[in-house]
Amino acid sequence: MCGIVGYVGSLQAAPILIDGLRKLEYRGYDSAGLAVHDGQDIHIVRAVGKLNNLARALESRPLQGCTGLGHTRWATHGRPSEPNAHPHQAGDVAVVHNGIIENHVELKRELEAEGVKFSSDTDTEIAAHLVNKAFAGGKQPLFDAVREALGRVRGAYALAVVSKQSPDVLVVAKSASPLVIGVGEGEMLCGSDIPALLQHTRHMLFLEDGEMAELRSGGYRIETVDGKPVDRKPKRIDWSPVQAEKGGFKHFMLKEIFEQPRAVEDTLRGRVLREEGNFVAAELGLDPETLQKIDRVYLLACGTSYHACLNGRYWIEALARIPAQTELASEVRYREPVFTDRDLVVAVSQSGETADTLAAVRAAKEAGAHVLAIANVLDSAIPRESHGALYTHAGPEIGVASTKCFTTQLVALLMLAIFIGRGRGKLSQERADTLIQALVETPERMRQVLEHADTVQEVARKFMHAEHMLFLGRGLGFPIALEGALKLKEISYAHAEGYAAGEMKHGPIALIDENMPVVVVMPKDSQYEKTASNVQEVKARLGQVIAVVTEGHQEAKDLADYCLPIPEANEVVLPLLTVLPLQLLSYYVADLKGTDVDQPRNLAKTVTVE
Ligand code: AGP
Repeated sequence: MCGIVGYVGSLQAAPILIDGLRKLEYRGYDSAGLAVHDGQDIHIVRAVGKLNNLARALESRPLQGCTGLGHTRWATHGRPSEPNAHPHQAGDVAVVHNGIIENHVELKRELEAEGVKFSSDTDTEIAAHLVNKAFAGGKQPLFDAVREALGRVRGAYALAVVSKQSPDVLVVAKSASPLVIGVGEGEMLCGSDIPALLQHTRHMLFLEDGEMAELRSGGYRIETVDGKPVDRKPKRIDWSPVQAEKGGFKHFMLKEIFEQPRAVEDTLRGRVLREEGNFVAAELGLDPETLQKIDRVYLLACGTSYHACLNGRYWIEALARIPAQTELASEVRYREPVFTDRDLVVAVSQSGETADTLAAVRAAKEAGAHVLAIANVLDSAIPRESHGALYTHAGPEIGVASTKCFTTQLVALLMLAIFIGRGRGKLSQERADTLIQALVETPERMRQVLEHADTVQEVARKFMHAEHMLFLGRGLGFPIALEGALKLKEISYAHAEGYAAGEMKHGPIALIDENMPVVVVMPKDSQYEKTASNVQEVKARLGQVIAVVTEGHQEAKDLADYCLPIPEANEVVLPLLTVLPLQLLSYYVADLKGTDVDQPRNLAKTVTVE
């Protein structure tokens, strides 16, 4: 996720900005840059890759001056490259941005019609041109120009702007992306996160959505974007630098679990076409002719991404009415699979670099299939080698155990199923509208699930010494049972097995006794009655049942020994909710056992070997 740092004061800005960016490295980035005002003009240096490349570029082109902006970029629009790196300059202004401008296509078209030439593929450059246009060489204060420009922008942004005509002013604004302001002695700073500022000041204030601020070395003022003054005093932050990196959470994994509502919002952002009951399709590379031709969908992946595919298969079959099959990429590459030019192959990968998935993509492509990647890392190998790519906007995932990438993969797969269903006339607008509404409401429901983290922690305390656990689920709950078991194995090293609830009587029931806790995904859905019978079978054999249940569903509560509640929601989106308590359960068990949660033994975040 992009990182922003800004400084205005009496010290040289460049070293402070670089230092601040280093503190944001944990967010992940692919390129970086600085803009510094030397009193006369703005000068920019950018570099692809690590901050050391930027530091080297600065040795040959040093930037002098006491006002400036720094940025680390995590690509969302346009591949990682120097022209796409921030800051972006347009005329008299330079801008750094974190977020996604939803209406970038229409704004770019409009600016191009006015004769504006773009030098990057980013949505941020559009914001720079809008501010420059409103600023008109200093005809109005930069603060007002930014406000005017923001009136045109829809989407998520944390924005910081500097102008040629006002060397001692930074203007910042926020909507949905984080922005912190640091208040120093004769200096002001801003940043995407607390660690970037901690070395200079512990006095910080947080901009709220829809607010903007003007920072000068002597102070600041805050207003809402529609012009109402905001009176906010800084607070003292006592976090240690390590705590600050994790946003106050004990581990990155826990932070990432709690980031999921935001990650889902970002993945949906700018893609929903409410009037059409559909999603934006351009990035899929699926023209209407290809869409009509498809007679089978293959979903390929490894690990957690494979579990997302299992849910994807249910959705594609139910909503698009095309036969769909899931394949472990590590298996399919060594079979002799029969891919044809009538297949749509969907390769799902958080990293976009998994060797087995990449090999399967190559085989499918060679056989003439249309290959679509669902990935979280822009321009990584799998999307690069595919015909189209649907990016999840989870932001970098640092914990080895995947959490927010899983839920955003689910969002991408559900969007795809709706898109194919609509395109092939198999899904009515009315049904699509209902599903889209359910998806849009999901982040709020996820927040409600996460409010029960303490309940999950209590259950984890009771079962932290269990050496084995069985996870059961049905329908859309079955892949979630598999994912819950994988999470527990990965980070707590307990043996866990996921099973389709209906399969229990065909074998695993032999394992059930008072020492085998059974975790059951059992929300109030069309499968509930059948799953509840399986729970009865477990209880009859003295098994202890921990169940994910719908809040207020008394019957389920009476049946289970321990309940992990989720709110009511449309059945189709339930996997996005039911997985959260299971992620939390594995996290708390692992934390109580004292394992290395973020870097579990023997595992790598990106598996580039067979
Ligand atoms: C998930 O918690 C795992 N670390 C692992 O199963 C992972 O999902 C798998 O290696 C696939 O990775 P990818 O999504 O980057 O392709």
